[in-house]
Amino acid sequence: MDFEERIKQKKGREKIIMLTAYDYQIAKILDGMKVDLILVGDSLGMVVQGNRDTKSVTMEEMIYHTRAVVKGTKETPIIADMPIHSYDKPEECLKNAQRFLETGAHGVKIEGNKPEAVKALVRARIPVMGHVGMLPQMEESYRLKGKTAEEADKIFADATQLDAQGVFSIVLECIPESLATKITSKVKAPTIGIGAGKYCDGQVLVINDMLGMDSGFKPKFVKRYADLETVVKDAVAEFRRDVSVGKYPDKEHTYH
Ligand code: KIV
Repeated sequence: MDFEERIKQKKGREKIIMLTAYDYQIAKILDGMKVDLILVGDSLGMVVQGNRDTKSVTMEEMIYHTRAVVKGTKETPIIADMPIHSYDKPEECLKNAQRFLETGAHGVKIEGNKPEAVKALVRARIPVMGHVGMLPQMEESYRLKGKTAEEADKIFADATQLDAQGVFSIVLECIPESLATKITSKVKAPTIGIGAGKYCDGQVLVINDMLGMDSGFKPKFVKRYADLETVVKDAVAEFRRDVSVGKYPDKEHTYH
C-alpha cells in the first residue's frame, strides 16, 4: 500500500502525526518514531532563517533543506512545502513539484484553493496535500481565521473543493474547533490540524515550537514538549565555565 493510501485509511480510525523537519539530524531522530509524515515546511523561513514570515523562501532553499531531510530518513514519507509563487502557474507547479520528487520527497503541499495547480499535480499522480485557514504565504499578520460566517464559509468551501480535486490530506491552520470539526466530518481526505482543535484526523506542529527552542514565541495552540532553549543555555554556560577554569578538556577528552 502506498503512503497516500495509508494516510487516507487512518481517517476516523487512528490519529495522523506530522512534524516539520528542516535538517538531517532532526529527520534522523523523527524517522522510526512512528511519525506518519515529515513536512519540510516553508516555516523554515522563520525558524531557520530568522525572517518574520515565509514569503521570501525560495525553491532553491526548499530543495536544499529537503535534500538534508531525505538523507536522514529511511521510512517516513516526506512532504515538501511548495514556496510562495512556485505554483502560480500549473506548468511551473508541475516542474517544481517534480524537482521535489527527484530530491527524494514523496509529495508536496500547497496553500489555499488553487484548482489548476492541484488538478495538474493529481493528473501527474503527484501526491498533494492541501492547506486552508490561516495561510502564511498570503497573510500580513498571523491570526485566527474563520471567526466570521463569511470567512468560515470560504474556508469550508475551499476545503471541500480541494477534497473533490483529489488532495490526499488537508492541513487546517488556526481556525475554530467547531469549523475544523465540520470540515473533518464533511471531507473524505484526512484533516491535519495546527491550532484547529482536537477533532481533526491528525495534528502537526513546527518541531522548533514543540521543542521549546524560542521562549519568546508562544501562540495559544503550541504545547511545548521540551524546553530546549534552557537545555542549550545551560550546556553553553557549563562549557564556558569549564573552559575558563581549565576543567575542559580533561584527560578523558585529550589525545596522548
Ligand atoms: O510551513 C509549515 O511548517 C506549515 C505547517 C505549519 C503546517 O505549513
